[in-house]
Amino acid sequence: MNIHYLTLFPEMYDGVLNSSILKRAKDKGIVDYNLINFRDYSNSKHNKVDDYPYGGGAGMVLKPEPVFEAMDDLEVDNARVILLCPQGAPFNQKMAEDLSTEEDIVFICGHYEGYDERIRTLVTDEVSIGDYVLTGGELASMTMTDAIVRLIPDVISKQESHEQDSFSTGLLEHPHYTRPREYRGMKVPEVLLSGDHKKIEEWRRDESLKRTRERRPDLLE
Ligand SMILES: C[S@@+](CC[C@H](N)C(=O)[O-])C[C@H]1O[C@@H](n2cnc3c(N)ncnc32)[C@H](O)[C@@H]1O
Repeated sequence: MNIHYLTLFPEMYDGVLNSSILKRAKDKGIVDYNLINFRDYSNSKHNKVDDYPYGGGAGMVLKPEPVFEAMDDLEVDNARVILLCPQGAPFNQKMAEDLSTEEDIVFICGHYEGYDERIRTLVTDEVSIGDYVLTGGELASMTMTDAIVRLIPDVISKQESHEQDSFSTGLLEHPHYTRPREYRGMKVPEVLLSGDHKKIEEWRRDESLKRTRERRPDLLE
């Protein structure tokens, strides 16, 4: 998979794309990350990429030319082009699963008050990572990248499997315990020490349901 980011702040990605599983996916040759500073496509003397809104009002608006020209240069066919936007469809695990099968994904990261509306003609999806407003689309694109890349086959090992993760099964995941058996008076549930795999599975399923009922009853509806 190739993931392209149209951003004004490529330096924000350094730590995230060069750490942990995202780095491992790149090192294994499964994913390639391509950072494009669309300020390089500005046609103004001072590399401006924003301008005042027609009709007046607060804030600046991203101009269409730098984004259109950066997209022309990319030359990707059949890419999913995602506009990060608080007004977009809410991001979720199902969307991450769907995107994890793509060959090319382009993230367009906004900044300022908003985008020139014509930029929307370039995109296949508009996505929000939650009902709050960020300064820019960079953190949203990194969040989405992390959720998508870990689902690509061979990025994470069988032991780290994501199949039981919260949302993958439609439920929140069951609780986990590791050594020691007892810590500060808190004991590991006996069933997990029993070696009885059927009972352990049942306990996990019950805990998973209980947790979902308590924390996210909407998932059970
Ligand atoms: C300050 S926000 C603009 C918000 C815009 N004025 C509005 O009310 O919809 C600047 C940029 O941050 C990104 N952004 C902010 N919140 C986001 C969210 N919840 N999900 C995805 N992207 C977001 C978008 O790329 C947006 O263009």
